[in-house]
Amino acid sequence: MHTSIQLRFCSSLAFLLCCSLVLHKASAQGVTPALFWSPEKPMSDLPEVNGVDPLSADLLEQQYLNPLLKHSAESAVVFLQDKLHVDDFTKFADVYSIDSDGGAFKNIKGFIEEHFSLELPQVEDPLKAVEKLKSSFAGVVHTAGSLEAVKKLNLQPKQKFLLIIELTPSTHVHDEEQAIASNDALVGAICNHLHKRSIKYTAMFTGKSASAGQWRNVDTYSGRHLLAEPVSKNGTGVFMNVSGMYFFLRDVQVYIKQKGVDNPTILNLTVTSSSADKSTVDNKTAMVQFDLSGTPDNGTEAYNVQILFNTTRKGDRWVIENILLTVEGAANAAASNGSLVESPLRTGDMDLVVPILYSYHCSRMKMYVDTIRHKELKDYEGTYVILNGLQMQPFNVQHDAFFNAQDCVGFFSRAIWMGIFSSLILLAILFFGVMMVLNLSTPDRFDDPKGKTIVIAQAEDN
Ligand SMILES: *[C@@H]1O[C@H](CO)[C@@H](O)[C@H](O)[C@H]1NC(C)=O
Ligand SMILES: *[C@@H]1O[C@H](CO)[C@@H](O)[C@H](O)[C@H]1NC(C)=O
Ligand SMILES: *[C@@H]1O[C@H](CO)[C@@H](O)[C@H](O)[C@H]1NC(C)=O
Ligand SMILES: *[C@@H]1O[C@H](CO)[C@@H](O)[C@H](O)[C@H]1NC(C)=O
Ligand SMILES: *[C@@H]1O[C@H](CO)[C@@H](O)[C@H](O)[C@H]1NC(C)=O
Ligand SMILES: *[C@@H]1O[C@H](CO)[C@@H](O)[C@H](O)[C@H]1NC(C)=O
Ligand SMILES: *[C@@H]1O[C@H](CO)[C@@H](O)[C@H](O)[C@H]1NC(C)=O
Repeated sequence: MHTSIQLRFCSSLAFLLCCSLVLHKASAQGVTPALFWSPEKPMSDLPEVNGVDPLSADLLEQQYLNPLLKHSAESAVVFLQDKLHVDDFTKFADVYSIDSDGGAFKNIKGFIEEHFSLELPQVEDPLKAVEKLKSSFAGVVHTAGSLEAVKKLNLQPKQKFLLIIELTPSTHVHDEEQAIASNDALVGAICNHLHKRSIKYTAMFTGKSASAGQWRNVDTYSGRHLLAEPVSKNGTGVFMNVSGMYFFLRDVQVYIKQKGVDNPTILNLTVTSSSADKSTVDNKTAMVQFDLSGTPDNGTEAYNVQILFNTTRKGDRWVIENILLTVEGAANAAASNGSLVESPLRTGDMDLVVPILYSYHCSRMKMYVDTIRHKELKDYEGTYVILNGLQMQPFNVQHDAFFNAQDCVGFFSRAIWMGIFSSLILLAILFFGVMMVLNLSTPDRFDDPKGKTIVIAQAEDN
């Protein structure tokens, strides 16, 4: 019983949450949710709520307020908070905990669970509908702001009334959650008071408008959003827009190991907004070039590092053909053979084929210099590059933003294949084992008890 109620509230809040997500996209207006509950009156005959479109004030009045509050024999109570947004439930109703008691919305949650209830996730201007209801209401209309004021009112169980409760404003206060919680306590106290006086009622809880400043900051990202990883301690990285190609890169680390040099050189390179300025693109290929420079920890000489992505466009996909590393500086002087000039990097099992509209993303791209196929780089064995927080989309950028990203970690990583493969072997063993057990049969040749017995001729003994 308790669990089912819990589930119902969870699902209703999940619904509100879904709707709020849809709402951000669908409508820029501040729409607010409305919750109804009634101890006596079932609400199943009301129209289905469509989560996508906000309900207009007229429809709210005609389809919900009139049947619920006006034409029933019961009285009506309207709780009006100055601002209410679906996000307030996500923020303050403790929805992410399984044993949630409703957080700041404890009493309202209780009423919704225990009584007949209905949630309208998005209503436009409910205040207008309430004003209309007020002007056309058949019974007495009261307005109150506190429990004391309600107690003083001469409310009779037999007499139909409309009670409008103006809750304390929850915006421009120090602690919004505290303000909501005290309003919720007032809602609980008033409903219990009405219950004690045996007054039958239907209640509505809503806001005059959506919470300020909540819907405004939605959908304003430009560029990267899919990737919005927790910001690393060293800032958020740099977004680059080079002739319509979009790049994002946080930082780069280069580890240069050379034969004959004792200490490896470690370069922590920072990315600037002009790092990719030398990148070029045409209809078929894009050469994405990051130019970075930095000095090692205790060194003095500056190193220039260039990382070049050679990408080509192939019909419905684009491919990173190869990635080349160039290091200019002291690193090349010590090596007797070869130097790090356009040296190919090993991309291992990274998935470098990307659907044409997609961007490419890698949170940590670690690539060693390819000394296996390029023997001239043997002196640099163990040299590697790490690109942190890379996202790039050289082709088909639309709507001034990265499209969905394909991640460098393929769907089937090596570990997954290992798991699948060994499970298949075990399953095969099990299969043959079961088949062998099924093949066992009882012997079908027994002595026939009714047939002739076997007679064994015996030689006569003398
Ligand atoms: C960047 O992070 C490193 C450790 O990862 C830290 O030592 C360094 O102070 C940070 N730099 C800035 C500018 O925050
Ligand atoms: C990127 O640059 C192009 C022109 O090269 C411009 O049309 C587009 O608005 C820019 N996008 C962003 C997010 O700055
Ligand atoms: C790119 O394609 C457009 C039309 O699709 C064409 O007009 C233009 O010449 C092409 N540019 C190059 C460099 O191929
Ligand atoms: C470079 O970054 C690594 C890892 O973030 C850190 O351990 C190292 O101290 C950094 N070196 C410098 C010179 O900042
Ligand atoms: C850099 O520092 C390390 C130890 O901190 C030292 O072993 C190495 O010799 C130094 N390198 C240079 C070029 O000073
Ligand atoms: C880019 O890759 C293609 C295909 O592998 C190759 O033909 C072309 O030479 C490469 N360009 C550079 C500058 O490496
Ligand atoms: C340099 O290359 C030559 C021939 O290619 C080779 O004999 C020699 O051992 C190499 N030197 C080093 C230090 O690897």
